[in-house]
Amino acid sequence: MRIYSRILGTGSYLPEKRLTNADLAAELAQQGVETSDEWIVERTGIRARHFAASTQGSSDLATEAARRAIEAAGITAHDLDLIIVATSTPDMVFPSVATMVQNKLGAAGCPAFDVQAVCTGFIYAVSIADAMIQSGAAKRALVIGAEVFSRILDFKDRTTCVLFGDGAGAVVLEASEQPGILATDIHADGKHRDILCVPGHVSGGQVLGDPVLKMDGQAVFKLAVRVLEETARASLAKANLQDTDIDWLIPHQANIRIMQSTAKKLKTPDEKVVVTVDQHGNTSAASIPLALDTAVRDGRIQRGQTLMLEGVGGGFTWGSVLVRY
Ligand code: ACO
Repeated sequence: MRIYSRILGTGSYLPEKRLTNADLAAELAQQGVETSDEWIVERTGIRARHFAASTQGSSDLATEAARRAIEAAGITAHDLDLIIVATSTPDMVFPSVATMVQNKLGAAGCPAFDVQAVCTGFIYAVSIADAMIQSGAAKRALVIGAEVFSRILDFKDRTTCVLFGDGAGAVVLEASEQPGILATDIHADGKHRDILCVPGHVSGGQVLGDPVLKMDGQAVFKLAVRVLEETARASLAKANLQDTDIDWLIPHQANIRIMQSTAKKLKTPDEKVVVTVDQHGNTSAASIPLALDTAVRDGRIQRGQTLMLEGVGGGFTWGSVLVRY
């Protein structure tokens, strides 16, 4: 009998501070950086984003999202036997955000570790949890995507600082004879390192290099549209399903134009695409679980439906998870 990983519950958390494009444009104008609501909406579909308070780290956002997912799953933190956090903005160099979350949830003992695959991080983390559940190494896994990208933005660079936001999303997965995650597909190609990166690092007690996000937007756009179609088709093929079987497409929320191009290639009508980029901006590893939780809680996603989760991000990395919810 095949063992599946079934989504028991979802949760998410957005920090209190919300900035509309107009709010952000006004703040940037004070530093002599010019942008507008019109430009941001037309090029990206983003209307607002949330920024964490200076006292909040990824582990705080992750813990809130985790509490909500655990509550929705009807379990306690002590029932978990695996915690994985996808993040590129950890609280510290080490220990991992996952061990901090474990401690904040009042649990101890089970393995807890971070995964770093930038905006594909949640897809990677779910794929790892699914493999561990299928192998019998875990029975109940908490998988979180959490980011404070506001900490690594250059607010003098209008081509990047308007795109990102902070947040966290989580799922609880449980071993089940019922489907379940139907297929996963993950990839990387390190030759694309320079089109999206944060080149700074810590050395000798100092930050060396530039610790803010650099992006070649057009190169990212082209690559993203290609690999998002490829990975979705790969997951569908593994599960012997067609693109027309997708009930909800839940892509990484980077840019509405990338999402619409991908949906078109997969013959998925716009009304079957879960869109939160307008309200959240790009929250990197948090964007997919945030979108998933939003559509679960507002009743769009129903048990038995087929969900295509897919992401692409720095590295480059990309991948997808096909789920029978
Ligand atoms: N406000 C006003 N004007 C701006 C802004 C801004 N925030 N940013 C750039 N501009 C200007 C530029 O200076 C340029 O002006 P110029 O023609 O006078 O030189 C003009 O707008 C066009 O700039 P481009 O960079 O060519 O704009 P483009 O149409 O490529 O849009 C964007 C930029 C939105 C980043 C686009 O390339 C894109 O969507 N790329 C995908 C990247 C993405 O979504 N990344 C997210 C992170 S990656 C990930 O999550 C996978």
